[in-house]
Amino acid sequence: MDKLRLLFENNSDWVRSKTSKDPDYFARTSKDQLPLYLWVGCSDSRVPANEIVGLDPGELFVHRNVANLFPHTDFNCLSVLEFAVDILKIEHVIVCGHYDCGGVKAAMTDHHLGLVDNWLRNIRDVYAAHRTELEDILNEKQRYNRLVELNVLQQVKNISHTTIVQRAWDRKQPLTVHGWVYRLDNGKLSDLACNRSGTADVDPIYRIRTP
Ligand code: CO
Repeated sequence: MDKLRLLFENNSDWVRSKTSKDPDYFARTSKDQLPLYLWVGCSDSRVPANEIVGLDPGELFVHRNVANLFPHTDFNCLSVLEFAVDILKIEHVIVCGHYDCGGVKAAMTDHHLGLVDNWLRNIRDVYAAHRTELEDILNEKQRYNRLVELNVLQQVKNISHTTIVQRAWDRKQPLTVHGWVYRLDNGKLSDLACNRSGTADVDPIYRIRTP
């Protein structure tokens, strides 16, 4: 069968399955979205955001890019975050990395891949900042998976350092930034326990007093 035709057939089946259980499903969900969470994850096709946390359409606002980065100058990331926090009033931002991330692995080598090298440069900076800890890990796979975790932690910090998040905290809007990691080989998520939920969790040099 034509590979794209299959997608349309899958779509028809999905519409039928949704409306057979709940005839008003699309009429109701098309009116609004009320997600409580913003997901910042990797583009990797094996980490489908809604599916691994069991949330329906409308329940998870999603941004994915190679290696789940949140560079503080990236307008795509910033626009998503601003909309999620200021308009949708989401209460949790979840940065979710995954072990065996190809983007993180690429950043540990000197191979030239193309434009993505410039994007992955952010991970090389994380490596450089934690070089001693990482190079003390002799097993290469363990070192690489630790870099996955440190990269998540850095993105949690980057998000917490934005004026968007700090302004939300200043106006007492409930908002927590979380760092999680997903295992491709068993489908399990774990919490890296690096939450940020207020200005007190931010290094003073990054604090912004908002009007
Ligand atoms: Co990845």
